[in-house]
Amino acid sequence: MKTWLVACSKGGVGKTTLAIHLAAQAALAERTAALVDADPQRSATRWCERRAGLQGAVAAVDGTRRAWHKRLPGGVQRVVVDAPGRRRP
Ligand SMILES: Nc1ncnc2c1ncn2[C@@H]1O[C@H](COP(=O)(O)OP(=O)(O)OP(=O)(O)O)[C@@H](O)[C@H]1O
Ligand SMILES: [Mg+2]
Repeated sequence: MKTWLVACSKGGVGKTTLAIHLAAQAALAERTAALVDADPQRSATRWCERRAGLQGAVAAVDGTRRAWHKRLPGGVQRVVVDAPGRRRP
């Protein structure tokens, strides 16, 4: 299993766009892919939900909760983590 973390403290620079493309590419290459959405905005999760049932579907995992790694699908080959940008206080 390979895990890619897409992270940058600056907001709106394309983290989610890059993460969903990495996950989609893995899934279309017939590797079981999961997208861990660590951003409470849930943009990546909504993208996964729209693709559910299509070729190259990607499982979404809530990365804002503890022990998210325990909820990864069995046999997953590629994991992409979409990190949140830095929040204003
Ligand atoms: N559906 C959309 N339509 C048009 N522009 C969009 C859409 N989704 C994102 N964008 C724009 O694309 C750029 C990258 O967005 P993206 O969500 O990938 O960044 P991000 O780094 O994940 O942001 P954040 O820090 O808020 O998580 C931003 O300028 C955003 O406004
Ligand atoms: Mg994002």
